[in-house]
Formats: sequence, structure tokens, C-alpha cells
Amino acid sequence: MKKKPVTTTWGPTTKAVHAGMHENTSRSVTTPIYQTSTFELQENREGAEFANTIEPSTFYTRWGNPNFAEVESVIAALEGAERALVTSSGMAATATLFETFLQTGDHVIAPAASYLGTELLLKHLIETKNIKVTFIHNTLDMDEWERAASVPTKLLWIETPSNPTLAITDIGKIVQLAQRHHIKTVADNTFASPIHTRPLEWGIDLSMSSATKYLGGHSDVTAGAIAGSDADITACWKVARLTGPTMDPIGAWLLHRGIKTLALRVLRSSASAMALALWLNEHPQVERVDYPGLASHPGHEIAKRQMQDGFGGVLSFQIKGGLEAGARFCESLQMVYRAVSLGGVESLIQHPASMTHIFVDEAVKKTLGITPGLLRFATGIEDIQDIQSDFEQAFRAVL
Ligand SMILES: Cc1ncc(COP(=O)(O)O)c(C=O)c1O
Repeated sequence: MKKKPVTTTWGPTTKAVHAGMHENTSRSVTTPIYQTSTFELQENREGAEFANTIEPSTFYTRWGNPNFAEVESVIAALEGAERALVTSSGMAATATLFETFLQTGDHVIAPAASYLGTELLLKHLIETKNIKVTFIHNTLDMDEWERAASVPTKLLWIETPSNPTLAITDIGKIVQLAQRHHIKTVADNTFASPIHTRPLEWGIDLSMSSATKYLGGHSDVTAGAIAGSDADITACWKVARLTGPTMDPIGAWLLHRGIKTLALRVLRSSASAMALALWLNEHPQVERVDYPGLASHPGHEIAKRQMQDGFGGVLSFQIKGGLEAGARFCESLQMVYRAVSLGGVESLIQHPASMTHIFVDEAVKKTLGITPGLLRFATGIEDIQDIQSDFEQAFRAVL
């Protein structure tokens, strides 16, 4: 199999298809699955050599695997990074980042309305490692970030657009602030995906993703990814080699297969989400729509600057009639799946107030922007008229 050039001039779709096909030593167009935990060593010396190599791909799968190496090259190419690391889930990537860059007593700045798992892990670290966290309530208020950074800070975490409220953070301004204060920055790029936003191009140090979502794209694999400089990813790999948040080779292969259509899927979902947001915005049964593509969204102008070719496939809307209407709408959909997650080919809906956030304190829900009638919709790649007619019958069921 000829070695593929990885050219930075390629567009994202070409990179997704061709970058990283370098571990395939067979003549098959698709790389085989290296479903093995270990690799035969040609000679003793090789064992010693591999044990001292950064992520050898044919030594022991917790160290690396050809399927990891390939998918990591593709992710690095898409994110514009020197190197990437794949993990067994998005949370494994987050935990690896925290374990690598935080020590007892360190200060972290993070949005209050970030992915619930990230928030809970930070709260766990507050209790167990005496980590100090300043949570930002209005991500658009740069004074709030500035005040938070007035104390020595190790890590600044952003998520844009954020889960579940689609809040926007100004990446350029965050980078300026962090560089002034010498703070390492991480962007959770799950919602935007590298098709819409490449945080590293804006000067962010590390981009992490729940690859379970758009990168994988088919709701069939749980995975995480971290992209950044050679030095930072090597540091993460050294921790991961010890703690073992290792993917399964078949999972890495599925992730790689999914990534090949990333641009097609993301652009389709985002275009449909934009059309749905405009339609819902005029709907008599809808109180409010949160979507960064709408001119009414408070982060719209920033999103326009830092997101290209669309605003992502996830939108939130508040149905009139509160908790009961939200729950009934969700239960009345016939084609759209009621399920947590996003970024798959199939549309998913969830009603945080009666599902994921049911046990979250009312006051906390309020600060997170989770109102009783809020529905989070992850647009799939179906024909938009079919999504819309499913919504129409569900709206009728709520009346
Ligand atoms: C924005 C965001 N970050 C991180 C995660 C965690 O990823 P995973 O579920 O793959 O562990 C999720 C999961 O929903 C997410 O939405």
C-alpha cells in the first residue's frame, strides 16, 4: 500500500478520507482491525526499544495500536494539531487532561454550564484533590473571566457551543486572557467538531472531544480524543499509559470509519438545524429557541466569527406549557429517538427537566438555564421534511 502524503492544503473532507492511512501494510483499501492486545517482537532489542518509544503502535495495545495511530493522525490533521490521542470515552479524555495537567490545590476556571459530566468531575476533584474551581456564569462576560484569572490559574476550560444551553465563548478573547496570565487552555470541541471550529487555530492549547458524538457519528462507539502539541499530547499519553483509558481496536476502527464522512454529516445536520431553528422560532407553541445561528442568540456575532460553514446540529427550544408539555412533546415523537447523546446520523431529543437533570437542584438548574419546558434536539441527517412532520404531530399531541 503506497504511503499517503498528509498535506495541510487538503480540505477537511479529503483529510478525513485520506490522512492517516499509514498503518495499512496490506493492499486492502480499508485498514484491517488489529484486534490484539500485544504484538510479536522481532528480537529482544525491539522490546527495549518500544518500551522507550512514545506511543509505539505495535508493542502492547495500552501503549498504542495501528488503529489508534491512524485515527489519531486523522484527528490531528482535522484539528490542525501536531498530535492527537484517542481514549475510551470523552470523559476518559477529560479525566486524562485533568490528571496530566492538575496537581493538588491548583485553580481551574470553567463554565458553570458545561457538560454535566465535566462539571461533576471538577466537583469530585474539589472534594478529593482540593482543586479550586471558579465557575463562570455568563461566558460572554469577559470581566467575569478576567476576575477569575486574577488568582494564579493552571487550567482554563471552555466549551463552545456548550451543552446543553448552546452558550458561546469568545475563543480569541479567552486566548488573549490566558496568554497574559500564562494559563493552559482546553476547548471541549464536541458540539462544533473540527468542521465548524478548530480551537488550535485560535491559539487554544488543547482541543478535546467526545468522539462518541460527531466524530464517530453513528451512535455505535464510545470514544474520546485530545489534540494538541507534541509535548502536551505526549504528556497525556504518558499518563494514559499508566491509568489505562485505552480504546478497543475495533472502537478505533469504527471511529476512523465514521470520521471519513464527518464533513458530509456535520454540514447536513447543521443546515437542517438552522432551518429548524428558524421554523421553531416562529412556531406559536414555542417560547424561545437557543441556537447560535439565530441573530437573536446573544453569542451570534462571536459564533459567526469562530464557526465556519454552520453552527452545529444541536439546538434547544422551550415549549410553551412547561414541564408537562416538554415531557409530552418528547414522548409523542415517533421517528426521532428519545435518547441522550448527539452527533449521530439519527435525530435525538431529550427533555433535561424530566430526564438528565431531574435530580439537579432547582437553583442550579436555573443558573444552567434549564427551564421546565426546555428540549434539547440533536439533528440527524434525515430528510428535514420528515423531522418537521414528526415535530408537527408532536406539537399537536401537546395541545
Ligand atoms: C460536550 C461534551 N463533552 C464531553 C462529553 C463526555 O463524552 P462521553 O460520553 O463520550 O464520555 C459529552 C457527552 O455527552 C459532551 O456532550
